[in-house]
Amino acid sequence: MNIICVDFVFNIFLGPTSISLDFSLPGVEHVYGIPEHADDLKLKTTDGGDPYRLYNLDVFQYELYNPMALYGSIPVMLAHNTQRTMGIFWLNAAETWVDINFVQGSSEKPQTDIRWISESGIIDVFIMLGPKPSDVFSQYASLTGTQSFPPLASLGYHQCRWNYNDQEDVKSVDQGFDQHDIPYDFIWLDIEHADGKRYFTWDPHKFSQPKEMLQGLMDKRRKMVAIVDPHIKVDSGYKIHSEITSKDFYVKNKDGRNYEGWCWPGNSGYPDFTIPEMRAWWASMFAYDQYEGSMENLFTWNDMNEPSVFNGPEVTMHKDALHGKWEHREIHNIYGLYVQMATAEGQIQRSGGVERPFVLTRAFFAGSQRFGAVWTGDNAAEWGHLKISIPMCLSLGLVGVSFCGADIGGFFKNPSTELLVRWYQTGAYQPFFRAHAHLDTTRREPWLFGPENTALIREVIRQRYALLPYWYQLFFQAYRTGMPVMRPLWVDYPKDTATFTIDDEFLIGSDLLVHPVTEEGSLLYPPHNLKWFRRSSACMENDPYTLYVALSPKKFAEGKLYIDDGHSFNYDAKKEFIHRSLTFANNKILSYITMKMTSMSEIIWHANLLILSQTGKETPVDFEFDSSMSVLTLRKPGMNAGDDWTLLLQ
Ligand code: NOJ
Repeated sequence: MNIICVDFVFNIFLGPTSISLDFSLPGVEHVYGIPEHADDLKLKTTDGGDPYRLYNLDVFQYELYNPMALYGSIPVMLAHNTQRTMGIFWLNAAETWVDINFVQGSSEKPQTDIRWISESGIIDVFIMLGPKPSDVFSQYASLTGTQSFPPLASLGYHQCRWNYNDQEDVKSVDQGFDQHDIPYDFIWLDIEHADGKRYFTWDPHKFSQPKEMLQGLMDKRRKMVAIVDPHIKVDSGYKIHSEITSKDFYVKNKDGRNYEGWCWPGNSGYPDFTIPEMRAWWASMFAYDQYEGSMENLFTWNDMNEPSVFNGPEVTMHKDALHGKWEHREIHNIYGLYVQMATAEGQIQRSGGVERPFVLTRAFFAGSQRFGAVWTGDNAAEWGHLKISIPMCLSLGLVGVSFCGADIGGFFKNPSTELLVRWYQTGAYQPFFRAHAHLDTTRREPWLFGPENTALIREVIRQRYALLPYWYQLFFQAYRTGMPVMRPLWVDYPKDTATFTIDDEFLIGSDLLVHPVTEEGSLLYPPHNLKWFRRSSACMENDPYTLYVALSPKKFAEGKLYIDDGHSFNYDAKKEFIHRSLTFANNKILSYITMKMTSMSEIIWHANLLILSQTGKETPVDFEFDSSMSVLTLRKPGMNAGDDWTLLLQ
């Protein structure tokens, strides 16, 4: 047995109650997780200060290195030492506080004491015993699921701003990418695209021909995301509002009337996403004949789903609002998860269950990883915000949410050119790669800062695209096993105590070490002029793969390759995928099956001559050897990624 479940069930009373449990972790000095906080990766003692707070809130200009609550809450903490990694999952969606105390006398062994406190609900705790980090990830995944396997294109670059003004604007930004030879996959529309912030509609003047716009993108194998927020304009002429009203799907006031609050559209109702029938109805609104102007290359962004209520307490819903018999206080932190769940389901259904969805959410809870991506909300164009994006995403990865990113450039304020370039260079190595900016900021598409900076941004976006097969393979692993894509160093080096507090440097998978520049005035490195280039990830579909083999001191290397159609569920439903392991050992590179049987071919390298041998026929292969760098480059060896082959260095 490797998970212990502790369940204390009390009577449920309406109104605030309170539950709490203390844990002592002898031998533990390092604890992590419980996102979302703008803080270091290693959690700090809260002795003498505020506990870490978990309460989904729409926070205006959040502070750094602070235990204050932000948009999402995942009540999962990991504890790690050289002997063991373990986790605590406090399954409670009410407002929660976590106190941390490090105890270490001169003769004592270290100990961490933790107190979980929730405003209401029951004590329902899972203790994940590890002992390895990967065991804790799979134990937690067995409770809440793994990261959804995203469409390949969503791992490319996303161009967003509040707002692209009209169809012409979208077209000219799209063309800008072509003119400047920069690949991208998605362009995003914020709230101004809808008719009076009535989501699922289009502004009749600025976006009068949405299908024409989407078709234009589709012709270039690109896609769009449009925002759909969960506050619904109270307007009897608005189909979404009238249907929710007639089906009685709105959250209620304590007196039983529909709960109303102020948000972008003005007076708004809040659908009760805790009701399964409400979620099913919401999902049905994404059908092509319901969501007019939508097409299969239109995807969704769920924002403000904490939920944000401008005139509510702490800019959110009143705790005594009602979801059936349940007060909002009981379910607050899981509301946003249900919004994203229903939206993702809608996208799957509109394709008859064939296509994978892509939905970005701002609010989240334990299990949100099953429904798409998250981002770190309204950051600012400041160096500190660039730096904090690393521990924020690392913390999320540790508790299941691999698909995380921060607004590149910073949402509020205008970044200096240097900061913007550095942010691209960091963001290209974080899982969700999207530039975004506030309505009041000046335009900042990648080509607006002079040719040298355009070249730097182009270079790093191309690096991202060149590494897409690696990212995709890692997301497949995350989906299958729960292993985080972006990882703190200690996950792969659990006995190296020096790694336990590092959070300015991280791993992508096991093989790529990333240390971005997050300080102003550091030296720039020159672009590498990658020869390869494409317009979007879909255009790369038939491109050859480049295999980089970096040998360990023992002359060993291993890696994986995963290939499928990039967008459907056929990898699951029809087992249409290639999954291969690649190893270098004893002077041989071997490509062999991880999950599919295929034929065998062979590549043999004789002294200075490389020969591809397939069924006895030998063909010379072009290669170069850079002895100063000890790099051997094989050009177009012509083997099939789906076949077994051996490369022998003699
Ligand atoms: C708040 C979101 O965090 C931000 O990204 C978005 O641009 C605005 N809402 C407007 O929709």
